[in-house]
Amino acid sequence: MKKKIIYIVLAIVIVLIIGFGVYFLLNGKEKQKENGKVVNENIINELEKEENIANFNFETKSVKLNSGYEMPLNGLGTYSLTGDTCYNAVSSALKSGVRLIDTAYMYGNEEEIGESIRDSGIPREEIFVITKLYPSQFDNPKEAIELALKKLDIGYIDMMLLHHPGTNDVSAYKEMEKYVESGKIRSLGLSNWYVEELNDFLPKINIIPALVQNEIHPYYQENDVIPFIQSLGIVVQGWYPFGGRGHTSELLNNETIVKIANNHNVSSAQVILRWNLQKGVVVIPGSSNPDHIKENTDIYGFELTEEEMQEINALDRNEKHDWY
Ligand SMILES: NC(=O)c1ccc[n+]([C@@H]2O[C@H](COP(=O)([O-])OP(=O)(O)OC[C@H]3O[C@@H](n4cnc5c(N)ncnc54)[C@H](OP(=O)(O)O)[C@@H]3O)[C@@H](O)[C@H]2O)c1
Repeated sequence: MKKKIIYIVLAIVIVLIIGFGVYFLLNGKEKQKENGKVVNENIINELEKEENIANFNFETKSVKLNSGYEMPLNGLGTYSLTGDTCYNAVSSALKSGVRLIDTAYMYGNEEEIGESIRDSGIPREEIFVITKLYPSQFDNPKEAIELALKKLDIGYIDMMLLHHPGTNDVSAYKEMEKYVESGKIRSLGLSNWYVEELNDFLPKINIIPALVQNEIHPYYQENDVIPFIQSLGIVVQGWYPFGGRGHTSELLNNETIVKIANNHNVSSAQVILRWNLQKGVVVIPGSSNPDHIKENTDIYGFELTEEEMQEINALDRNEKHDWY
């Protein structure tokens, strides 16, 4: 009889412990989320569990960001394009149906881009503009954001990134968060942030980045980094899709890529862009040539087979084409 009572008491204690454990676990999780922002330090674990992998929509040619906004899957990169060349490249891209433009303070072309967009007659809401703050601006981010808004002069900025990690990057990001509150910036992101940098940075900020923009091409694939970023519900965008100026011909003439291009009756450039899209990576090829710009948008009418994807994956050389 005595033994029976001990077993019953033990059973009640175990049930209570499990019950309290489950209650605190669930309640804790609820408190981590507030208005779509994750405010708990265990942010990475929590996000990883959600397995919120970017979902590309090949019908609308866009992806829904964790900020709630839609972003096109292909755009125009404008690094090294300035003055009339830049204005004309953006006009040409907009005429070809491109609705995503990537710029940065560092590129010195925000004014031309804003002007080209305003002159296009295309409704502002249909165009998605990304710009970036450079580390030299992190000490005075408010002034830097105001400068970008003034130079672009298109009402609001769709997405602002920190261009590189650097001193005061957290405070610069937090200033950008204030502009999200006011609606002058719609989404935030980072560029040149890898696994270690993200693990360090994310617990310190309030709004999870919607995008990470890193170097990605067949010779530098980041196959370990991309799934990690995507598992956080963050969209990945690749820079230097053709390897960057000075490296494009080795990539575009790579015999594996040329062979695959011939299989589909498309160009090597189109194969590389399509390979990115099928890996869940948004593309922003740079070009000032209207024919190339048009060609770079025509990447939705064919699909690489799993075998072809693997053949391109096998070209990885971990060969970075820039220092960051
Ligand atoms: N976040 C960062 O740190 C960072 C760093 C670098 C770049 N980016 C961004 O990423 C964008 C892309 O990089 P990128 O422009 O430097 O290099 P890229 O896109 O790899 O290559 C641009 C080069 O490819 C040529 N090209 C474009 N389309 C082509 C086609 N269909 N056939 C043959 N050649 C073609 C262009 O020449 P034509 O003008 O003759 O077409 C240009 O010389 C930049 O513009 C910038 O927006 C970001």
